[in-house]
Amino acid sequence: MSDHHNHRYTTPLIFLHWLMLLVIILAYASIELEDIFPRGSVLRADMRLWHYVTGISVLWLLVVRLPFGLMVSHLYAAKPAIESSFMRWQKRLAKTMHIALYVWMFALPIMGWLLVNAHGHGVAYFGVELPILITQNFELAAALEEIHDAIAGLGYVLIGLHTVAALIHHYVVGDNTLVRMLPFLAAHEKK
Ligand code: HEM
Ligand code: HEM
Repeated sequence: MSDHHNHRYTTPLIFLHWLMLLVIILAYASIELEDIFPRGSVLRADMRLWHYVTGISVLWLLVVRLPFGLMVSHLYAAKPAIESSFMRWQKRLAKTMHIALYVWMFALPIMGWLLVNAHGHGVAYFGVELPILITQNFELAAALEEIHDAIAGLGYVLIGLHTVAALIHHYVVGDNTLVRMLPFLAAHEKK
């Protein structure tokens, strides 16, 4: 099979991809599981702080990841000798999804940060107060809350589709798509 299947992602990008998956899971869990603690309790307030910490971590990890992400264009550019229209269509869809995931990883934490500021609060990151981006405005806060909720909901769909596609490539199609994003399998790489 042609050489383009053997391209792998760089180690920093692989590391950041899986680290960010973990941090995103913690960001979702910290807010979705908030209800296990009663309203007004210290533990519930702690869950909020963890939601901010994990969410803001996604934001700065994204800034670190972006240059590595921009360097992977060869994975799309490399073409086999004969490329079917189906393969071209598939590559374009994957690329569009990856761009959407980058935009999502930026937009969601920013909306969260703005919504907390609009409520008149600061965002604490491991005890450090982050800059206030906008002044108190409860109407705006309500709108930003809806937007944050909607983008968070969309995340389940985007990440779900992305994950299912990766698993189909690996288990059904049997190609190299997943392996080139895995850290430890270089030696056993399928051709
Ligand atoms: C990847 C990062 C993030 C994810 C996955 C995420 C996800 C979520 C989810 C699922 C909800 C619950 C929505 C609902 O009520 O149904 C939520 C609410 C909330 N998030 Fe985030 N969020 C992220 C980042 C942030 C950041 C960085 C902040 C603030 C600094 C933040 C502040 C909030 C607040 C204040 C709420 C409660 C809003 C409300 O009462 O509806 N989020 N987030
Ligand atoms: C269990 C969950 C996940 C699996 C199995 C998975 C799998 C993969 C695979 C196999 C690739 C390589 C695709 C290709 O080469 O065409 C990839 C790339 C990518 N994934 Fe995931 N992924 C998961 C979760 C996530 C999450 C949560 C995000 C972000 C919200 C994400 C964002 C990306 C992006 C942006 C790329 C393109 C390469 C890059 O710039 O990092 N993935 N993923």
